[in-house]
Amino acid sequence: MITGKTLLVGIIGDPVEHSLSPPMHNAAFTHLMMDYVYVPFHVRDENLESAIEGARSLELKGLNVTIPHKTAVMPYLDEVDQAAQLIGAVNTIKFSKNKAKGYNTDGVGAVRALEEIIPVKDKRVVIMGAGGAARALAFQLILNGIGELAIANRTREKAVQLAHDIQGKMEFSPEVTGLGEVELSTTDILINTTSVGMHPHQDQPPLLRAEKMHPGLVVNDLIYNPLKTNLLKEAEKIGARTLNGTKMLIYQGMESFRIWTGVTPPVEVFETSLIRILGKI
Ligand code: ATR
Repeated sequence: MITGKTLLVGIIGDPVEHSLSPPMHNAAFTHLMMDYVYVPFHVRDENLESAIEGARSLELKGLNVTIPHKTAVMPYLDEVDQAAQLIGAVNTIKFSKNKAKGYNTDGVGAVRALEEIIPVKDKRVVIMGAGGAARALAFQLILNGIGELAIANRTREKAVQLAHDIQGKMEFSPEVTGLGEVELSTTDILINTTSVGMHPHQDQPPLLRAEKMHPGLVVNDLIYNPLKTNLLKEAEKIGARTLNGTKMLIYQGMESFRIWTGVTPPVEVFETSLIRILGKI
């Protein structure tokens, strides 16, 4: 029941109606009997600054930030944590007395999901794609101590730009390759951050076939709809370990929840809620 004491968190984005975060967070608040509610807010570009000011005035406890505001929101915050600053994007804001602080839990969530399968330290990683998700992952993987990173993207200049940004901010030099030239024989972890194979294009051919993979490889597709993409099917053919995008989504949300409330929610509650919604899509 919403009362005069209920605390408010939410998500801003454009569009925002397809976000899977409200049901996951609200399920956790209900389960933990915490007097919070998580609401989606459709915020257009031109209203971003006033939305943040409004959130401060309304004393919201926190916000998730999604496309297209993750970078544009940064100037309106009082502080941005180290990982979010490196990534250059914020997906979580915590409001406290007179202060709005930005965080990025996308990279943290993705790396936590991966580390349940394989410790990333000193590993060689290939990331396919060079957009926002690739960027968050690349910086977080380097923060977590990976040994080598290759970035493979359809538009080579974007991969070069990301590699250049990384070099400018960290003592690390990623390689850049084309999608067709990805070399996996010495690679430990392959991550797809592109939308290739995502609903409604799940029949699209995968960017890499089983013949190029090996059984020691971990293949992580950030896509969660479908749960098993053609890329993951190829990985299974060769006996490689696979990971879809649900755990990343769950862990980034759980980390936002923890930042706002100080409480780590049970993973099962987020997971059950997510699987239920995905089943309805
Ligand atoms: P996100 O924020 O999820 O990373 P994005 O910033 O739009 O999304 O990035 C999408 C990524 O998917 C890009 O790397 C894009 O490649 P380009 O930089 O060449 O556009 C990649 N991508 C999308 N469709 C693709 C396709 N059909 N083949 C190969 N790569 C594709």
